[in-house]
Amino acid sequence: MSGFAGFALDRAFGHPRGLLGALGGALMACGNAAAERQVVRLARLTGAEQVLVIGPGPGIGLLAAGERADRVVAIEPSQRMRHAAERRCAALRNVTVLDGTAEATGQPDASFDVVLSVNNIQLWPDRTAALAELRRVLRPGGVLLLSTHERWLPGGRAGLHADVRTAGFVEVQTWAWQPPSRGTTQAQTRATRP
Ligand SMILES: C[S@@+](CC[C@H](N)C(=O)[O-])C[C@H]1O[C@@H](n2cnc3c(N)ncnc32)[C@H](O)[C@@H]1O
Repeated sequence: MSGFAGFALDRAFGHPRGLLGALGGALMACGNAAAERQVVRLARLTGAEQVLVIGPGPGIGLLAAGERADRVVAIEPSQRMRHAAERRCAALRNVTVLDGTAEATGQPDASFDVVLSVNNIQLWPDRTAALAELRRVLRPGGVLLLSTHERWLPGGRAGLHADVRTAGFVEVQTWAWQPPSRGTTQAQTRATRP
């Protein structure tokens, strides 16, 4: 999409900034909540895990992860979304929200048990670099969970599956998930770092 519509969508949802970013954040907190919470459920957190959340936006899944894990670090390039996520998780002492991207998290090697990303794969400028970065920060045996709007996903489900395998993950599973009430079909992948 190009022109003003593309600009407005990017300001609201892709790279949230200003008033459009605030509006986008409010809409995402509502429209994406089911997918955000479902991905946290898929992670089967027990309270002991170190979790990295990529692109939490307004922080619905981040809050759910923070309530179920030992420690959660969120990496979010939008200042407006970092503030929204911090406000949502203010009561949780184990959640930290940092500036960064999927391609450059700034986190140490092998420092997380689980990495979660909802509705931002399509925004990564270099998917190969991002998957290499997420593999680097996962410990051996750690789990990667990706989910995004299938209709916005370049290469579709098959392309995502292939890219995750090429990045060196194993036990890669990819499927479609339909949120129960609102929201579009999600392409989801679960994989393990060997
Ligand atoms: C469509 S929103 C989704 C937010 C939230 N996960 C949800 O589902 O409601 C995309 C988010 O990804 C962030 N983002 C954009 N580019 C990114 C990148 N390269 N790495 C990580 N996050 C990114 C945006 O700032 C935005 O908060």
